[in-house]
Amino acid sequence: MFIVFEGIDGTGKSTQVQTLANTLRHLGKEVITSKEPTDGPHGKRLRESAETGRLSPQEELDLFHTDRREHVEELIKPALARGAVVILDRYYFSTMAYQGIRGFDPLEIRKTNEAFAPQPDYVFVLEVPIDIALERIGYRDGQANQFEQREYLEKCHEIFSALPDQFIHRIDATQTPEQVHADILAKLP
Ligand code: TYD
Repeated sequence: MFIVFEGIDGTGKSTQVQTLANTLRHLGKEVITSKEPTDGPHGKRLRESAETGRLSPQEELDLFHTDRREHVEELIKPALARGAVVILDRYYFSTMAYQGIRGFDPLEIRKTNEAFAPQPDYVFVLEVPIDIALERIGYRDGQANQFEQREYLEKCHEIFSALPDQFIHRIDATQTPEQVHADILAKLP
């Protein structure tokens, strides 16, 4: 089973990834958690660029794809092949949203990614109003970085909201972490 968490910054994705992983492990499943951008060299470069100055849109898009190709080959596919549950904090829906608003067509981005990246079984889009997201980011980091400006997050939110697929579930993430977790479990088999 392949599960992905998406949503703008400050929606509590990383907490939910860990909580769900723990619950499934208690049920005896092997669970691999990971995130994008990864902690590999490409992911590190992308994170640094959020603090020190964005790359050009094309360079940035290419780097997210390179990072993901490695992630798919080295971690995601092998784990799924041996029957583990894989839970990711962000995946190509983030590229559709965040690079979509830098001028690329989200549907083209999706096509490019689905040519090499397996489609998840479940995507949980955690939703909170932008003001709450910004407040949470502020509490966490002191100051929003360049990926986290209001206008930017609003457009991302729109792209996430417009995803039409059956396997994509929107979750009200203004609730307590326990309630959010319960909503997620209720969607799983
Ligand atoms: P984030 O999950 O916020 O990492 P952390 O909180 O650990 O620094 O990811 C960093 C940023 O990367 C985030 O603002 C969204 C952005 N991003 C993209 O622009 N495109 C992508 O394809 C992905 C996966 C992330």
